[in-house]
Amino acid sequence: MAILVTGGAGFIGSNFVRHWLQAHPHDAIVVVDSLTYAGNRSSLPEEGIVFVKGDIRDTALIGDLLRSYAVETLVHFAAESHVDRSIHSPETFLETNVLGTLRLLEATRDYVSSTRTTPFRFHHVSTDEVYGSLDPNDSPFVETSPYAPNSPYAASKAASDHLVRAWHHTYGLPVTITNCSNNYGPTHFPEKLIPLMLVNILHGHPLPVYGDGLNIRDWLYVADHCEGIDLAINKGKVGEVYNLGGNSEATNLQIIHMLCKRVATEFANDPSLSTRFPAYREASDPARLITFVADRPGHDRRYAINAAKAESELGYRPKETLESGLNKTVRWYLDNEVWWRSVMDGSYREWVSVNYDER
Ligand code: NAD
Ligand code: TYD
Repeated sequence: MAILVTGGAGFIGSNFVRHWLQAHPHDAIVVVDSLTYAGNRSSLPEEGIVFVKGDIRDTALIGDLLRSYAVETLVHFAAESHVDRSIHSPETFLETNVLGTLRLLEATRDYVSSTRTTPFRFHHVSTDEVYGSLDPNDSPFVETSPYAPNSPYAASKAASDHLVRAWHHTYGLPVTITNCSNNYGPTHFPEKLIPLMLVNILHGHPLPVYGDGLNIRDWLYVADHCEGIDLAINKGKVGEVYNLGGNSEATNLQIIHMLCKRVATEFANDPSLSTRFPAYREASDPARLITFVADRPGHDRRYAINAAKAESELGYRPKETLESGLNKTVRWYLDNEVWWRSVMDGSYREWVSVNYDER
């Protein structure tokens, strides 16, 4: 079986490729990724996959890949994924997340109808942010919660979900969709909350908390998400949507305090870390680096997922708790300094100054 993974050089896509290589060693894996600032070839294994640098909007390229490898499963991760960037430059989000998904659907529809490849699956990876924001006492999102996207990012993902649904309903394309909560873990680009805070803690830099820091997210360790996608592909019913979550709601401040505590434990256990990160020791208590900055415009207060459907129909169950997942994540960043330093290039520094200097 051949699987085509779009956006496989990004955070979740690269973890998914590693998962699939291990879980399905006989499958051929083809990754297509345009390597934006968020995509890194070094996040992927060197061997055992075919890597193609290309854009999902390139219908001819996607058609060629589907035909050349006789693809039976396509998993669609490619997207612009950072809410703050979507506030600064929304158009790229529409280009990739909406137009890109449309072109991918069209190339796939043409391939499936002309080659009559069966079984075939188009799996679309989406987010809980399409459902909008919850109040403290609201029930978590279910698959039938109304769509109410609040950021340009969420609106673009909502549009892509609707396109995938419509291509199933109208053209019979065999699709599944998963909407999932905030991921964290290895190869997470250090513009997102957890890796950004980790890198800043290690450098003794301020930890910028938007607003009052009491916004709540449900955190899911990325390997558990990848397992959930695998289950949706292999056990999910065509045309269905599954919500995937981590049963781990926490405020941003709680997350930051957990990270500070875990980093302190690692430094206490491993004296070589103080030599590698001298700024950490100078900062003494990293929690003192917490700095409240201007809130994100339209900042969603709370996301939470009810994953009961995926649990009962797919057997989905996340393995990591928030504590065990964060411990693994902290260790990965300590062990992979070369990776995170290499992705924090000039364009990264430019983004940090655009987003944080005026806050
Ligand atoms: P990411 O930003 O780390 O990676 C996106 C990847 O897509 C990058 O490798 C990038 O180079 C590639 N890409 C962007 N535009 C492309 C294009 N036009 N053609 C080909 N490749 C392109 O994102 P992520 O965090 O890994 O998220 C992956 C998917 O999961 C996204 O669809 C996102 O909406 C969804 N999602 C993410 C989270 C999360 O917490 N990160 C949660 C739920 C859902
Ligand atoms: P983020 O990782 O950008 O994910 P999302 O916005 O998709 O949930 O942000 C997670 C939470 O952390 C969100 O409430 C915004 C907040 N946040 C900060 O307080 N400071 C920061 O520097 C960043 C990047 C995020």
